[in-house]
Amino acid sequence: MKETFYVTTPIYYVNDIPHIGHAYTTIAADVLARYHRARGREVYFLTGTDEHGQKVERAAQERGISPKDHCDELVTRFQQLWEKLDIKLSYFIRTTDPEHELVVQKAMQMLHDQDLIKKKTYQGWYSTSSERFWMEKDLKDGKDPETGLPVEWISETNYFFLMSRYQQKLKDHLHENPHFIRPKSRYNEILGFLDRELDDLCISRPKSRLAWGIELPFDHEYVTYVWFDALLNYLSAIGYLKEDQSLFTYWPANFHLIGKDILTTHSVYWITMLFALNVPPPQCIFAHGWWTIEGRKMSKSLKNVVDPHLLIDSYGADAVRYFLLREVPFGNDGDFSHAAFIGRVNADLANDLGNALNRSVALTGRNFDGLVPTPRTEEDDQDRLLKNHAAGLLTQIGLNLGETIYTPESPGKESLNFSVALENIWSFIRFINKYIDTQAPWQLAKEGNKDRLATVLYNCLEALRVAAVYLAPFMPNKALQIIRILGLSPTFADQQQIIASELQFDTIKSWGHLPPGSKLISDEILFPRVEPEMVQNILSQILAIAENEEMAVNIFREIFPRYKITKAQTWVRKILGTDSFLTTPTPTPEKSRSKPDKKAGPPAPDSEVDYNTFARLDLRVAEVLEAERVKNSEKLIRLKVDIGSETRQIVAGIGKSFAPTDLISKKIVIVANLKPVKLMGLKSKGMLLAAGDEDDDVQLCLVSKNTKTGLRIK
Ligand code: MSP
Repeated sequence: MKETFYVTTPIYYVNDIPHIGHAYTTIAADVLARYHRARGREVYFLTGTDEHGQKVERAAQERGISPKDHCDELVTRFQQLWEKLDIKLSYFIRTTDPEHELVVQKAMQMLHDQDLIKKKTYQGWYSTSSERFWMEKDLKDGKDPETGLPVEWISETNYFFLMSRYQQKLKDHLHENPHFIRPKSRYNEILGFLDRELDDLCISRPKSRLAWGIELPFDHEYVTYVWFDALLNYLSAIGYLKEDQSLFTYWPANFHLIGKDILTTHSVYWITMLFALNVPPPQCIFAHGWWTIEGRKMSKSLKNVVDPHLLIDSYGADAVRYFLLREVPFGNDGDFSHAAFIGRVNADLANDLGNALNRSVALTGRNFDGLVPTPRTEEDDQDRLLKNHAAGLLTQIGLNLGETIYTPESPGKESLNFSVALENIWSFIRFINKYIDTQAPWQLAKEGNKDRLATVLYNCLEALRVAAVYLAPFMPNKALQIIRILGLSPTFADQQQIIASELQFDTIKSWGHLPPGSKLISDEILFPRVEPEMVQNILSQILAIAENEEMAVNIFREIFPRYKITKAQTWVRKILGTDSFLTTPTPTPEKSRSKPDKKAGPPAPDSEVDYNTFARLDLRVAEVLEAERVKNSEKLIRLKVDIGSETRQIVAGIGKSFAPTDLISKKIVIVANLKPVKLMGLKSKGMLLAAGDEDDDVQLCLVSKNTKTGLRIK
């Protein structure tokens, strides 16, 4: 019987707009799945969406459609993204699948029959934003510590899973399986968590408060939702409690890949649920770190969520897959920056890998009419080093892709380290480049040493084929392209077939799989260098945060260090428009330079101003995120606004005409570069535009809801 490998990702909240955080876990799982498939194992790779709960119910209500229709529409955002990222799934589960719902009900009934579910009255601070109760001590300024949003005091009778009964068993399991939770720091975190007494787990909601869940089989007034429902997806997807048990052979899962924020739910809620159901636990839960964007927390309100579609459209899916896994050790937090992204594409992909391939193919074209030559000389030390390096990679990469955890009889060790696996492959690719440099095939050609030249070029091409096999789980398309360039498959007639055969690890068991005589394809560039003209769209967003031209030029040169200042300046002007920053200061008109007389109000407008004077004002569309009255002031309201590139505080004298709640989510127009002032001790950075007098009926200058936040008004 073939060995099996089962890997899962969390099922994502269907309401969320997919971002690189979601893509990260899914790509990592896809790499594992592809690697184990290429090693000849039966692989099951599961992802999906979490579709019940209050947020979904509310969002559907707001749209005036049924929650199911709402989910059916939104789920495609995830499905389309996975397709675009070349994610090769076994199954996409939705918690609204009737088959899943049935399993949840059956599991619930089983626990209820064993008296493991009890009805109790519970009081606590409930947060709709994270759909959970918080203890008083955990609140931050009286609000949800995770989302910062309000909580409400609720007293409710609900059903509880008696999780606390399994506390000791869970502790024992952890002690007996030191690799059960990875990385080690997360394992320790859960051990620490288990030092405190476990509560029982609330798993129901009364239908009166939430209808969008799975009805409890033993009480029709209640539904179960979110965690109890969601976690069971890992079993329901492979036929748990079904008559046909053929898929259930995949259990226990080899890896549950998750983000660090959902470690407790997986390590404690899920594992105790499994104990109660008498199902063995998975082999390993791996919690990865979180991505920040250009140094800041990813947040919908900050609008700094990196759109994976934009990245894929600009750089290609394989570059995105590569960057996310190469940049940060799995398990650590990481920062996404476009400069780092472009830097990696240019240095690692275009330079190291692209060059090794281009040089080998071009030299073969010149010297052997583009046909893979037959090696004609005895192997020397350098050839041997190259071959040994290739062979040694197999164990190294396996160790970093869960190989030891995979083998049941092996005790296992630190399990997943994608960035190190890629570093291993790159050290080989750099070695190929070094081999080309030291063997100097151009010199051999000049000397007429055709025999040695044939051996050297054969070795280069074969080494690149081996590299493609190792790379395939990470960059499936580029690996395939390398295979094609090397003449192994002249058409894309049957991609699946090629993946199954040419990219299997069997092909690298011994050196020499590449058949001499194959016709190379010489007119394809594997990875073009990223140049500014290819990413103008992205650059216009990045450069928009610059306050002046010098800053914009510096940002540009951080991304493209090879550009001299003058050339960078030309690009900045081309991308942002020549009027964005004034390069020579324009004299300020006499009147506006004189100190304003507060009592007399602002000075009258000039009868005419030239465009440059107008253009010095940075008028922008801003979204109001927060609003509250300033203490002891009738007029002043403190606003927190998103101006696209940042959030900032503005204090506005509109308190007589507006209540703070009127302002939230409004799209207003602000003067972003007005000198900051302090009003009643509060810093105000910018001014909102409004018509009318402060003491009278003020009308805000509003733009339509769809207008992009941060847009400049010119
Ligand atoms: N629906 C639950 C999971 C149920 S699994 C039985 C959920 N969904 S989620 O959509 O909010 O999050 C899914 C995953 O995205 C989590 O693993 C989370 O860690 C990950 N990420 C969300 N933001 C992230 C980053 N900024 N960076 C990396 N991963 C991030 O939780």
